[in-house]
Amino acid sequence: MAILEIRDIFKDFDGLRVLTGISLSVEERERFAVIGPNGAGKTTLFNIVSGKFRPSSGTVMYDGDEITRAPMHQRNRRGLSRSFQITNVFQNLSVFDNVLAGVCSHAGLRYNLLRRPHRNQSLCRRTEEILEEVGLWEFRQTLARELAYGQQRALELAITLSTEPRLVLLDEPTAGMSRQETEEAIRMVRRVTERMACMIIEHDMNVVFSLAERIAVLHYGMILACGRPEDIRQDQRVKDAYLGEQGS
Ligand SMILES: Nc1ncnc2c1ncn2[C@@H]1O[C@H](COP(=O)(O)OP(=O)(O)O)[C@@H](O)[C@H]1O
Ligand SMILES: [Mg+2]
Repeated sequence: MAILEIRDIFKDFDGLRVLTGISLSVEERERFAVIGPNGAGKTTLFNIVSGKFRPSSGTVMYDGDEITRAPMHQRNRRGLSRSFQITNVFQNLSVFDNVLAGVCSHAGLRYNLLRRPHRNQSLCRRTEEILEEVGLWEFRQTLARELAYGQQRALELAITLSTEPRLVLLDEPTAGMSRQETEEAIRMVRRVTERMACMIIEHDMNVVFSLAERIAVLHYGMILACGRPEDIRQDQRVKDAYLGEQGS
């Protein structure tokens, strides 16, 4: 069954039509990429899925239920999370404590140093697993603000994982990363998305074609094509509208 199904989404901003009848679905554990030129409406689509914006019309179904107008926190609680929102990171806490705070919060506990969360073995074990998964275990004592750029983003993903998501939205996860950081980020996304679905907006076509199982190409607020990477690569409309200019 699809974890996410969006049907006939329109979005207007003050009379400007940004999305025109978008329909697509993401299967459980699928890595689904959204590509398209700047201004195509990719981030707007994510904002509608995450609950930041409401569509002008159309419906968003998640795990079989309509969530079109559900607030963001309700979506988060059900396992629909957007990652790489730097606002979630406590810059003056250690990497470990940042993730532990997320794990506590998901367990319904308020992170409170006075309550000695570090003595709770199961919460600490879960924190440790997440840090290992994103490759930050050796940096567990480092303050968040002292991390390199790629590690900051790994920490943001770790905090997202602490909510035990079933669908993660990643908007340009490798933007601003060096080649090496990008390669690490791809490995990390591949590893963590073995047990959850992921929707990813990405400019780097190497990343898209090596990660995604399906790709939707957005063009002027419409889906120009949607399919497996090998089909998208050969689609003449996509080549003309988008891939051609990227030289691939
Ligand atoms: N909050 C907003 N208010 C008004 N216009 C917006 C808003 N967000 C996005 N837009 C417009 O919607 C269009 C698509 O933007 P966006 O979804 O960010 O594209 P992409 O992520 O594909 O580059 C752009 O023309 C942008 O100016
Ligand atoms: Mg965008």
